[in-house]
Amino acid sequence: MKRAIYPGSFDPITNGHLDIISRTARLFDQVVVAVIRNPEKIPRFSLKQRVAMIKQTAAPFPNVAVESFAGLLVDYAREKKAQVIVRGLRAVSDFDYEFQMALTNRKMAPEIETFFLMTDYKYSYLSSSFVRQISHFGGDISEMVPPGVIDKLKQN
Ligand code: PNS
Repeated sequence: MKRAIYPGSFDPITNGHLDIISRTARLFDQVVVAVIRNPEKIPRFSLKQRVAMIKQTAAPFPNVAVESFAGLLVDYAREKKAQVIVRGLRAVSDFDYEFQMALTNRKMAPEIETFFLMTDYKYSYLSSSFVRQISHFGGDISEMVPPGVIDKLKQN
């Protein structure tokens, strides 16, 4: 049984995240989308809201579960018996941070591999923070996030 963890803030989930989830679901028996509970950041959406939006969006994928975690990612991955951490890469600018994170995680848990998936070019410009800004100022986000998220951004 190959299990992958796809961790992140998902504040909110975007079509770029969804692309990574669907591709990861094809590669592994089970995928756990793990939403971080980060006390250092004040998110736009609560943990409960972020998990609910991803659950709704990932409903078509039977091998994808959505959970939340706090603390070290590698501890959570071990608890879940996941062999792999999946991260999406959009551009060269993501690389430094992701490289550092992957090496730090490997130092702490050498048995867990980090897999990087290149984003589809259609989503290479997308980020949750830009989506939040665009929505805040009334811009069109309909091609950036799943339909359920559009409504939540309008309400929140
Ligand atoms: O979507 P994000 O904000 O880029 O995700 C970052 C995340 C959640 C993957 C990262 O912050 C994380 O793993 N946090 C848990 C704490 C941890 O394990 N830190 C050490 C690894 S660098």
